[in-house]
Amino acid sequence: MKHIAIYPGSFDPITFGHLDILKRATNLFDKVIVTVAVNHKKSAVFSGDERVALIKECLAGKEWAKNIEVNQFTGLLVNHAQKLNANTLIRGVRQISDFEYEFRMALTNKRLAPDVDTVFLMPDEEFTFISASLVKEIAYWNGDLSSFVPGNVAKSLLKKMETK
Ligand code: PNS
Repeated sequence: MKHIAIYPGSFDPITFGHLDILKRATNLFDKVIVTVAVNHKKSAVFSGDERVALIKECLAGKEWAKNIEVNQFTGLLVNHAQKLNANTLIRGVRQISDFEYEFRMALTNKRLAPDVDTVFLMPDEEFTFISASLVKEIAYWNGDLSSFVPGNVAKSLLKKMETK
């Protein structure tokens, strides 16, 4: 049986921390589906299509990414996971402060879909403080994004900020 995992998130935008988790996940599962949550109630800098395109660009040509798919969804994550035959959700936990929220979310998802489990992965130490919201703040003030996000993401984000 092929073991398919879903790596969900807002990815607004994808960071080096997300990519580190994703790479680790590819070592554990046959197929990993990165899925961008599009929540019309939550404001995002990038549209769902833009976030998917940026992620695909980041993965293009990478040998370790050959079993990764990228898509987007609206609605409940567990429904999307079940539709795609994925019985594992991957979440990155950077520090203890992430844990409470992640624990509640994992238990909620488990209640909704008992056959779907959440696996937590830790990023490399050098990425433990990176978050998409900090990245957006740095971009807003035109700061150096090179150690936070890949070049294509930095370029698109700075362009977005020009029009804000
Ligand atoms: O990157 P984020 O914003 O921490 O990701 C959170 C996300 C998108 C995984 C979570 O909000 C989610 O799964 N949203 C979809 C709606 C849903 O299923 N909610 C119930 C889980 S508590």
